[in-house]
Amino acid sequence: MKHSKVIDLLNSTKTLHEVTAKGWVRTFRNNQFIALNDGSTIHNIQCVVDFENTPDETLKRITTGAAICVTGTLAESRGAGQKVEIQVTKLEILGDSDAEKFPMQPKKHSLEFLRENAHLRVRTNAFGAIMRVRSTLAFAVHQYFQEKGFFYVNTPIITGSDAEGAGEMFQVTSLPLDGSAPRNEDGSINYKEDFFGKQTNLTVSGQLEGETFAMALGQIYTFGPTFRAENSNTSRHLAEFWMIEPEVAFNDLADNMDLAEDFIKYVIKYTVDKCGDDLKFLENRLLEEEKSKPQAERSEMTLLEKLSFVLDNNFKRVSYTEAIDILKDSTPNKKKKFQYIINEWGADLQSEHERFLVEKHFKCPVILFDYPAKIKAFYMRLNDNTEPGKETVRAMDILFPGIGEIVGGSQREERYDVLVEKMKALGIDEEELWWYLDTRRFGSAVHSGFGLGFERLVLFVTGMSNIRDVIPFPRTPQNAEF
Ligand code: 4AD
Ligand code: MG
Repeated sequence: MKHSKVIDLLNSTKTLHEVTAKGWVRTFRNNQFIALNDGSTIHNIQCVVDFENTPDETLKRITTGAAICVTGTLAESRGAGQKVEIQVTKLEILGDSDAEKFPMQPKKHSLEFLRENAHLRVRTNAFGAIMRVRSTLAFAVHQYFQEKGFFYVNTPIITGSDAEGAGEMFQVTSLPLDGSAPRNEDGSINYKEDFFGKQTNLTVSGQLEGETFAMALGQIYTFGPTFRAENSNTSRHLAEFWMIEPEVAFNDLADNMDLAEDFIKYVIKYTVDKCGDDLKFLENRLLEEEKSKPQAERSEMTLLEKLSFVLDNNFKRVSYTEAIDILKDSTPNKKKKFQYIINEWGADLQSEHERFLVEKHFKCPVILFDYPAKIKAFYMRLNDNTEPGKETVRAMDILFPGIGEIVGGSQREERYDVLVEKMKALGIDEEELWWYLDTRRFGSAVHSGFGLGFERLVLFVTGMSNIRDVIPFPRTPQNAEF
């Protein structure tokens, strides 16, 4: 008999028929009640075992973590807490689980312990919920763009360029690392002998390739893994993360902000509608976690209130220059509570400043725009009419409460001469990016795009606080287990 999913059994309106379910035992109580979970939902189905007619040998093997198959009658439950249960007539152990050794015991584990057991943590309620929410958000991303007529582009994972010009790349090579790699006369490595005949790295962003596609297909998006070899051991950084990068021909910066805001609201709304039970669970998890914090550090809103708040309010749009004025005058700046004191226009914003603006000052998502050219990437559109020495670019970052930067984007420099001059000034190799410059040589036009860090979005929606807990197998400095 084909087995049913637990979620369908729990939602079933028909009872008193025979059903089969397969899953993993969460708990087994009184030699009688199995809480069975198959991952289709946060909820377990109760399976009532007729222990008098079940051999002791079998009963002993119904342990936490074991995979089982049960067949029985789906019946209204007499017990509290569930509408239906399975009155088991046949039980088969599919895979034993040694109760002494199985790491996921039915008790509270620390998040750190769970990270060390990332291959099993998804069998817990919290991680099951997080990963289902992640899957739903990913689907919503595609649905949003597909409904709007964007085309999905797969940009290369291995590239020869540094899209962000920040040099934080993982090198890809098939040359030996034992010192025997071929050398040039000056002693440097001869990359002509390497696999691709040149130096290559894992992509930090699909933007530059994405731009070439936007200049042909009009509206495109990427959704793929990106890699950063930045040694940032924080709760917001991963060495391997997933990024969504839309790029749109003929959009200016204001259009870009509208798109980003609409997109974020859509995917959150979609997930709130689809993942009610999981989000309710995560909301309670967060409430529990916050009980251990001092009152002042607890959030004023529950998880679902926070999500509704984002859906119901406009993101506040603030120029970099206004933000600097606010920060200069702020109490933590005057009292030297910031680690980096803001003294003047041109300072790069640290996450403490971003979080002050979002969490303390505006108390809502903020879009900062028109940043100093000096602190942003080479491809951003130089603003017209800016004072010499105070040049700004048409950049925008979206800052979220509890997260900081969730989106980084810009209108792109579409003028060939201005772009080349900028690249020269920054020492970016024109020859390496000949193909990128071609977009400005042939049919150039205003265009804009942004990158949303998928894990930062999942962090926000699940209310988790460490980015390592919202990706299946996190890669961070000194850690690539699994
Ligand atoms: O601001 P970033 O570096 O922008 C770009 O890469 C542009 N090429 C995007 C574009 O315009 N198409 O990165 C974009 C976003 C950040 O706002 C952040 O959410 C996320 O990617 N991000 C990271 N997420 C996790 N771990 C890291 N190390 C991240 N670095 C960036
Ligand atoms: Mg950024």
